[in-house]
Amino acid sequence: MTLIFSGMQPTRQLHLGNYLGALKNWVKLQHDAQAIFCVVDMHAMTIAHDPETLRSNIREVAAAYIAAGIDPEKNILFNQSAVPGHAELNWILTCHTPLGWLNRMTQFKEKAGKQKDNAVLGLYAYPVLMAADILLYKATHVPVGEDQKQHLELARDIAGAFNRYYKADDFFPLPEPQILGEATRVMSLRDGTKKMSKSDESEYSRINLTDDADTIALKIRKAKTDPEPLPSAAEGLEGRPEAANLVTIYAALSDTTKAAVLSEFGGQQFSAFKGALADLAVARLAPIAGEMNRLLGDRAELDRLLKRGAERAGEIAGRTMNEVKDLVGL
Ligand code: ADP
Ligand code: NA
Repeated sequence: MTLIFSGMQPTRQLHLGNYLGALKNWVKLQHDAQAIFCVVDMHAMTIAHDPETLRSNIREVAAAYIAAGIDPEKNILFNQSAVPGHAELNWILTCHTPLGWLNRMTQFKEKAGKQKDNAVLGLYAYPVLMAADILLYKATHVPVGEDQKQHLELARDIAGAFNRYYKADDFFPLPEPQILGEATRVMSLRDGTKKMSKSDESEYSRINLTDDADTIALKIRKAKTDPEPLPSAAEGLEGRPEAANLVTIYAALSDTTKAAVLSEFGGQQFSAFKGALADLAVARLAPIAGEMNRLLGDRAELDRLLKRGAERAGEIAGRTMNEVKDLVGL
């Protein structure tokens, strides 16, 4: 059986990278299989956070899922902390995760920076909680952006180690990453070597799903490029990360390929292309922002949807935790 699981952290606003690398693919995949979409609020605590902001970001991410096209009745949509199994399974899995495996995680090194000894244990252990999120539902497929590939491999290793230790072949399926579409790694608009990220200090580095039309157009106009015109074939983008990024974004937003975009815009200047890209981004994102606003206007309804989702998720999680406790001797 195919079961899809994925999630996003309610840290700040969702951006175009989250949308093109993950959310847009979820919307397509939700029709093919049972799918569980989680607002991973406990992950958001691994960096400095403010309680009131976290509370409102949880609703905002849930609203973004629905506004982008996730059906909360057909799929399970909930927030992580509402199902205690995530924290419980996390502990059990930490007892099966060698430190050496975590030492290899590049995202921790990036996020902790030079302050490694001051980084909190939660940030270091984050990938184990992510494995627990997935394995709690025995998910088989996890649609994510490219940056999560290493964490997915770790989740597979942990699942395999658990299965072997308890001589329970296939107890946890080894989850497959689904890294789909043209834009699996959207880069910063200010620096083509860095991924677009919520934690980037520059507001101009990313387009938020809730940015208005003028802001989107301004950010695209200010996006870094080089002085050459657009090439007419994809090979011409090599060594031009900023140009490649804008073409990739255009391709993903219009559900086509980079080659098709270049056959239309090849030879043109970036100033002209940026205008077309801004129009396209506004056309795709404005309806999502509008629907998010509408949903956020009725908090009680959002809370009701999340609660119902948590009940449904909790049933599956409860079954897995009973089996896990049986296996481990608790
Ligand atoms: P962030 O990295 O912005 O804090 P999350 O860690 O909550 O966001 O990631 C949510 C999803 O968005 C994940 O599937 C992740 O791989 C995807 N994602 C995040 N940033 C990008 C990006 N720049 N390009 C493509 N996908 C991304
Ligand atoms: Na991420």
